[in-house]
Amino acid sequence: MRPSNLAIISSLITGALYAATALAASWPLDSAGNPASNSITTFYINPMFLWDNRDFINRGRRELNPAMQRLLRYANAAAADTNVYSVTAKVNSLYAPSGDPHDYYSLARYYWPSTAGGQYVRKDGYPNPEIYSIPDSAFLDTMMEDVFDCGLAYFFTGNSTYSDRAAQRLRDWFINPATKMNPNLNFANWIKGTPANANGTTAALEFSRVWRVTDGIGLIRNSPSFTNDDWNALQAWFNDYYNWLIESPRGQAEGNSPNNQGTWYDVQRTTILLFLGQTALAADVQRKVTLSRLLQQVLPDGQQPLELTRPLSWQYSIFNLKAHFTQGWLAQSTGVEYFQFQTNDGRSAAKALNYLMSYTLVNGSGWPVTNIGNFDPTDVVELAKEAFIVYRDVKYTSFVDAVQGKPASWNPFRLWAPYASIDGALRAGAPRMVGKSSVFRLLIICVVLVDFLW
Ligand SMILES: *[C@@H]1O[C@H](CO)[C@@H](O)[C@H](O)[C@H]1NC(C)=O
Ligand SMILES: *[C@@H]1O[C@H](CO)[C@@H](O)[C@H](O)[C@H]1NC(C)=O
Ligand SMILES: *[C@@H]1O[C@H](CO)[C@@H](O)[C@H](O)[C@H]1NC(C)=O
Repeated sequence: MRPSNLAIISSLITGALYAATALAASWPLDSAGNPASNSITTFYINPMFLWDNRDFINRGRRELNPAMQRLLRYANAAAADTNVYSVTAKVNSLYAPSGDPHDYYSLARYYWPSTAGGQYVRKDGYPNPEIYSIPDSAFLDTMMEDVFDCGLAYFFTGNSTYSDRAAQRLRDWFINPATKMNPNLNFANWIKGTPANANGTTAALEFSRVWRVTDGIGLIRNSPSFTNDDWNALQAWFNDYYNWLIESPRGQAEGNSPNNQGTWYDVQRTTILLFLGQTALAADVQRKVTLSRLLQQVLPDGQQPLELTRPLSWQYSIFNLKAHFTQGWLAQSTGVEYFQFQTNDGRSAAKALNYLMSYTLVNGSGWPVTNIGNFDPTDVVELAKEAFIVYRDVKYTSFVDAVQGKPASWNPFRLWAPYASIDGALRAGAPRMVGKSSVFRLLIICVVLVDFLW
């Protein structure tokens, strides 16, 4: 009797008990009497995972309660915040060099005043705290989180308090004439001391997590809080922004970056093309552009040499890989085999992760280049959890266990991960159970029980 089998059995028995006592499904109805928030369109999150998880909770299973409580904590805070914030919230002295309050403005992270005056100079790896003096990037992050969290909370509860807030945030940031952001990032990551019409430097990184906005929209689109006019206005905004991204000198500079900046640029393009309904083009970006990047960026042993040149070589290796994983999830919506992609000489996203995992386990010992930061395992653990969902290989769960310390809790880490199929049985070493029929599951239970009784 292996301990893992015990885990399988206890999980299955608990599951059966929960299922047996669960009440019939009852979801809130919207004003028209239809089940609220059933019809959703998400591109990064697989809607099947959301439906499965909601159904799982509705059947009385409690394993997702911590994740749900966490989500509602965020969403309730977002719902309680009635302030209007957007790029126009900043005071005059913090306007972009254009002088237009609707222009998004942020400072380049690693640039510092030069003793000679004039243009700021780069000290890679050392963030200048002056970047926090301009509120736009923090507001942008908050808006993206609020829209996403409230969208999810609406989906799981049917409570339109959440969709109301998400819709308001979207209108404030993208639609209302008094507060909207101009659809460009001409003054993002600005290097102080450069002329107001300067080109050539990269810009668009801050919009990389735009999938939170587009998926948030997809979660409330059919709520009573959101109108066709909202939809049309958002489509128009993102159409303009997309054109800026591919036509402007600063957008193009971002796209031409061979390292993580370029990878995240492609993530934005893919996300926005999906949102604009241009799925074939989104697939093209992944297949023809981003997979070629992967080929350039990842060596057969999993090293990412372009990120290794950075003083924060660990952090940037992870950061670039996250962009590829984001593409992997978005590829569910394009049909491109992204996570499965590998070259004959073995370059792949999985290989890059293996490389980082091996150094995580020894706290960076033997890392081949300078790293001025620490070897924080947090994000590698997150990627390993995602990799487990994708590849269903227990080496990832073993890794998470090893880093977190046994017995690791494999609590649901996200409500949009397919928890229902990652129950205790799966992590105990029976990955092939996933997605099989219940008859097959029953068979496995019997086999395990026989093993147990034996
Ligand atoms: C909806 O959520 C809000 C914010 O948490 C809460 O105050 C309200 O009571 C909820 N409404 C229902 C019907 O549960
Ligand atoms: C930057 O590009 C814009 C648009 O192409 C152009 O109008 C502007 O003069 C350029 N700025 C510089 C400093 O070359
Ligand atoms: C990892 O190494 C760093 C120094 O690089 C050290 O500060 C830290 O305590 C180590 N962590 C563990 C878990 O050994």
